[in-house]
Amino acid sequence: MLMKRYLAANWKMFKTAEQAHKTAKDIITNIQAKLQTNDEVIIFPPFTALGSVFKVIQNISQIQLGGQNFYPAEQGAFTGEISPDMLIDAGCTYSIIGHSERRHTFQESNDFVAQKVHMGLEKNLAIILCIGETLDQRQNGLLEKTLNSQLDSVLNNLSPSDIKNRLLIAYEPVWAIGTGKVAQKEDIREAHSLIRSILKKFLEQKSDIIPILYGGSVKSENSSEILSLDNVNGVLVGGASLDAQTFSDIIINSK
Ligand code: PGA
Repeated sequence: MLMKRYLAANWKMFKTAEQAHKTAKDIITNIQAKLQTNDEVIIFPPFTALGSVFKVIQNISQIQLGGQNFYPAEQGAFTGEISPDMLIDAGCTYSIIGHSERRHTFQESNDFVAQKVHMGLEKNLAIILCIGETLDQRQNGLLEKTLNSQLDSVLNNLSPSDIKNRLLIAYEPVWAIGTGKVAQKEDIREAHSLIRSILKKFLEQKSDIIPILYGGSVKSENSSEILSLDNVNGVLVGGASLDAQTFSDIIINSK
């Protein structure tokens, strides 16, 4: 089976509902007739804009909606949080979990990230699990150790059948996020093949169907090359996805 090509837009804490609606609409106008059959586009607006974006994408099967995060509980006294069921209710089929901004700004631990991944999969949300090393870890030779421990905590208690084709990994080196410093081809190749081999250790054959996305300063100028690398099955785009034309160019120009 041909692996899909995943093109994800993470809008972080940007855009009002109205702005998000317009950007999503413009993206659709630009790309709809040009999508490849195996393309899956996923838009992650802020929570307050999920409804307005859902209105524009709801009838387009190749464009999906996702939440940027959730709290791993059914419901309850968790002021300021949102549950997986609430995301599903808003039209989401995906969630990002463990983004480096959550890990570093909000001190989310590997164990907490693992709890969320498990609950999200149980709820049948597709989970994009973000992993990646800091510059310090890279410079100290800790790339493999870091990726291993980030994956280990999630995969340890997960059986291949729990995954149901709904776990995706995004390799996002922390030093390349929002910095304009894109990782070199060799760095991406190395990290993605490391991730593939760690996945194999836990999931055997099932590991081959897990897509691995790259994220970190992806732009229309570098997306083609990144998407052509071995073991790169998609991109998770932050800053460059805020502009409809730029994100559309990433999708259309990289074949
Ligand atoms: P960036 O962000 O493309 O702005 O580097 C990527 C991400 O945070 O997912």
